[in-house]
Amino acid sequence: MRKKIVAGNWKMNKSFEQGINLVDDLINSFAIHQCPEILKIIIPPFIHLNEIGKKISSIPDIELGAQNCSNNDNGAFTGEISADMLSSCGVKYVLVGHSERRIYFNENSSLLSQKIIVSLKHNITPILCVGENLEERNSNKHLEAVKQQLKEAAFNLSPADFSKIIIAYEPVWAIGTGVTATSHQAQGMHNHIRTEINKKYGKEISESISILYGGSCNPENTKELFSCIDVDGGLIGGSSLKANDFVAIANSF
Ligand code: PGA
Repeated sequence: MRKKIVAGNWKMNKSFEQGINLVDDLINSFAIHQCPEILKIIIPPFIHLNEIGKKISSIPDIELGAQNCSNNDNGAFTGEISADMLSSCGVKYVLVGHSERRIYFNENSSLLSQKIIVSLKHNITPILCVGENLEERNSNKHLEAVKQQLKEAAFNLSPADFSKIIIAYEPVWAIGTGVTATSHQAQGMHNHIRTEINKKYGKEISESISILYGGSCNPENTKELFSCIDVDGGLIGGSSLKANDFVAIANSF
């Protein structure tokens, strides 16, 4: 059985106080609307991590994730945060290759590959984000584009390391736009990703990897998206900023 996961990427939202309030609301709401079989990952900005880590440390089905980490181990890299530091705050997951980082911060596959390796070294599970842009979708190049991203960032890993990662399919045209992929489009791409993993690493690994869908998920559309056979959960942006919506999404499996 693959792990079912709902991850909330807060992006650059919430002051420290607002973030703590949101986590308190999430903890209280999940205590009422329990779904212990679903792994919930909270991915706040860096400055919230330590305090939120303490708050959720005794809750087994809620874990902490970071939005980014340095590709370097430690040292003179002003402004960067290392995987080692994240680990020391209780971080268990890290987003790698979110399209906003690829587009606004020019992150390329070689950098992403280094980030995956350094995270794994510090026992942090990378959530590798892949997804085509609108032009690639409209010109029917979406399958090739996603395959390329996957290959370049992660197919250099050993089978043992690859089996530890999580993939998030996030079509760029669906992120923050209110336009979500149809369940048919999501299932098609998730199946494609799993097939490519199967070709490279074999059936056992391809069947064990969780593949999340991201892009304008909300409590109204996740029930259908999560019912797709190859969709193992969601990476949620905007709807993770409201406790009720995020809890409803986690309960929509
Ligand atoms: P969205 O963001 O849910 O606001 O579309 C998803 C993401 O960027 O991970």
